[in-house]
Amino acid sequence: NNFLVIMAGGIGSRFWPMSTSETPKQFLDILGTGKTMIQQTVARIEDIIPKRNIFVVTSRYYKDIVQEQLPFLEDSQILLEPCMRNTAPCIAYASYKIQNRCPDANIIVAPSDHLITDESGFRKTVEKALDFTKYQNVLLTLGIDPHRPETGYGYIKSTNPKISTNEIDKVSEFKEKPDIHTAKRYLESGGYLWNSGIFVWSASSVIEAIEKSLPEVAKLFTRGKEVYDTPSEQEYIDRIYPQCQNISIDYGILEHADNIYVLSSKFGWSDLGTWGSLWEKRQRDNQGNSVVGSGVHLFECNNTIVTVPDERSVVLQGLNDFIVVEANGVIMVCKKEEEQRIKEFREKVLTPN
Ligand code: GDD
Ligand code: MG
Repeated sequence: NNFLVIMAGGIGSRFWPMSTSETPKQFLDILGTGKTMIQQTVARIEDIIPKRNIFVVTSRYYKDIVQEQLPFLEDSQILLEPCMRNTAPCIAYASYKIQNRCPDANIIVAPSDHLITDESGFRKTVEKALDFTKYQNVLLTLGIDPHRPETGYGYIKSTNPKISTNEIDKVSEFKEKPDIHTAKRYLESGGYLWNSGIFVWSASSVIEAIEKSLPEVAKLFTRGKEVYDTPSEQEYIDRIYPQCQNISIDYGILEHADNIYVLSSKFGWSDLGTWGSLWEKRQRDNQGNSVVGSGVHLFECNNTIVTVPDERSVVLQGLNDFIVVEANGVIMVCKKEEEQRIKEFREKVLTPN
């Protein structure tokens, strides 16, 4: 009765210009492993979840890409959103549909854009989590030891500040994306974990939480009970989806629920969210430069990440801590420390006025 729901409807805008709304990063082989990020997401877990129990929730524009990259999926395993409403409605849709098929389903919810280096450690952690959530009304998240005051993550305070790896503990506070001062304070005070964004819970627990915190969303998907897995499903979803609140599961549910637990985990997790995080993971030379593109020549450059097509000759001199990318007809040169603004640069290029 174990299911996997993969969230794959984001556009990865901080990875622009390589990640575009036509082909966002989850459908790219960002690290050059031979598998795209969504293919890696499936590969690391397919040993413990039957293939027929894997669901991908994504935009209707990405249906063909998903089918091409994960050809084993039946049409009914690809859930198509007519518009983006962030992760709470995405998780709600999948949970109601799965519960309709299997009332005592136990669900792993995973993003499609993470790097996990210890895959067998990851599977063990997930199995422990599934055991814990099977018969209890709890919401479990996998927590990661933080090592920098990152403002793009959720922070979890466990009841026991000395929680050790592989231990499960009740969460006393969940704070999504704190400002930099708060993030620094959390890191200094200790006792906080990062939210990995990977969740485990039974269908009935998450549905109860949605009913409590997002009753309007709950109503829309409850009314759909007659149409899931029938020919009218898509039409119904297309009609109600725009009415859903645009909110993430973190802000919409986890910050408010009182039955959240965390499993302190270690499996080489990183969120490949930005160019800087990719630079940390890629091979680097003695000067800290990481280059993809066979025609790149560097002079007096340090800690710079370069990604350009092989056929391009590029000469770079005197760059420290820069991002240099050419992709999809765009050349971007940006200081690493300003990388959070790439969203803004993208907007500017796409809508010049
Ligand atoms: N189907 C669908 N629809 N998927 C979506 C949507 C949507 O509208 N919006 C985002 N996603 C997918 C993304 O593709 C990604 O795989 C996942 O959901 C998470 O969304 P992000 O937008 O990347 O979230 P985040 O990184 O800002 O924050 C989340 O992840 C952090 C760890 O990486 C939160 O859960 C944080 O608390 C967490 O620390
Ligand atoms: Mg993310």
